[in-house]
Amino acid sequence: MSTLKAVRGTRDLLPPETALWNRIEATARDVFARYNFGEIRTPVFEETALFARSVGEETDIVSKEMYTWEDRARAQSEKTQSLTLRPENTASVVRAAIEHNLFESGQLQKLYYIGPQFRRERPQKGRYRQFSQIGAEVIGPPSSGSESPLRDAEILEMLATLLDELGITGWTLELNSVGSAADRERYNQALRAALVPVVSQMCADCQRRAQTNPLRVLDCKIPADQPIIEKLPVIADSLDEASQAHFAAVTTALDAAGVPYKLNHRLVRGLDYYTRTTFEFTHGGLPPHGASSAGTPVLGAQNALLGGGRYDGLSEMLGGPRAPGIGFAMGEDRLVLTLLAQESAMPQMADAFIAPLGEILNAAALVLARELRHQGLWIELGEGSFRLKKSFETADKIARHIVILGEDELKSGILTVKNFSTGIQTKVPRSELAVFLSTPASE
Ligand code: HAM
Repeated sequence: MSTLKAVRGTRDLLPPETALWNRIEATARDVFARYNFGEIRTPVFEETALFARSVGEETDIVSKEMYTWEDRARAQSEKTQSLTLRPENTASVVRAAIEHNLFESGQLQKLYYIGPQFRRERPQKGRYRQFSQIGAEVIGPPSSGSESPLRDAEILEMLATLLDELGITGWTLELNSVGSAADRERYNQALRAALVPVVSQMCADCQRRAQTNPLRVLDCKIPADQPIIEKLPVIADSLDEASQAHFAAVTTALDAAGVPYKLNHRLVRGLDYYTRTTFEFTHGGLPPHGASSAGTPVLGAQNALLGGGRYDGLSEMLGGPRAPGIGFAMGEDRLVLTLLAQESAMPQMADAFIAPLGEILNAAALVLARELRHQGLWIELGEGSFRLKKSFETADKIARHIVILGEDELKSGILTVKNFSTGIQTKVPRSELAVFLSTPASE
């Protein structure tokens, strides 16, 4: 019988890597709390219409990548519904905020989420069909100050802080403004006009996009199309005065806070709900054409660690009141890949491995492990039938120290401890063991 495997594009996460996932999530929760965000948990599946209306019918996500099914009615009171595994979480957060009348309080809503998302993309390094996002949204009625450029700058400054606290070095913040709906309409017209004489020389996807959604032409990665795209009009020239002033205020605040950024006028993002500020934090670049694999960045072609932006009209698109907002989502899988490539992020080892010398000492070893674990230490417990050599080999792989527990040690209360990084063996009184094992100076 053939064995069953995880479905293509999905993965099992195993220890020790899961320790890194937990550390990332704990750091994110800690930073979000300091910026006064609360957690929201929305269902993993929603009505298909939610994503069609918000992310947009013409986007790759909705037109090709969603896991959608007809959910059959099981009783007369139920109706058959089209349901979809969420491909992103912003639409669900805004749906939930409307459903629970969160905007009626007049307060700014600051909500974060951590959880799986689903997109039927072509799997590759850093791109999966089930992946996890850590995201946050700031939304509220205009009277709550939700439209202020200060909110944009605060979110971006929080992200710089979060990436720094996670230990991710070498990130780049790419920033753009896609303007208001009216600005984008003007820009679409300018793009359509500029594309007419050149589109026949472009790739098939661009020819289709030029008809359906000309903005998407700017996402094209086909090398031959790049010189044509570089000559197309830029969106900055289509922004009205209010959009220009908003964007200028965002960059002024970022300059004041010392958050570095790079303007990228092609950053239009792959979801239709965006207005004004859009951004991505990238890590590493695409390797230059023909570069050796030694120069390949950790994330390969999937170099966006996170993306986000403003969505001032989203609440109304979903039948809610006017509630401008801004938010982001980080690809947790990509954070893990990036950190795993940085040595400092290697998973921690146990503080000590306790090796009882003989099965008769197993119970005493359990008592010693219990004592140390109650003092907050991370302990692995060996088995007395192991030969000492085997205990040393096992311990060396998983712990910083080995503690030998024989009859003599038990009676005298003086234990033999070996530190694997220094190779030094020391006699330590049982009462001082916890301090000894947890002090870096013992290394
Ligand atoms: P997005 O750019 O589609 O935006 O996704 C955000 C991040 O999720 C990406 O930068 C990437 O790190 C990660 N990601 C996306 N697809 C995959 C995949 N197939 N495998 C692994 N990681 C992936 C959004 O989802 C918006 N909801 C962000 C947002 C929140 N905008 C405003 N608020």
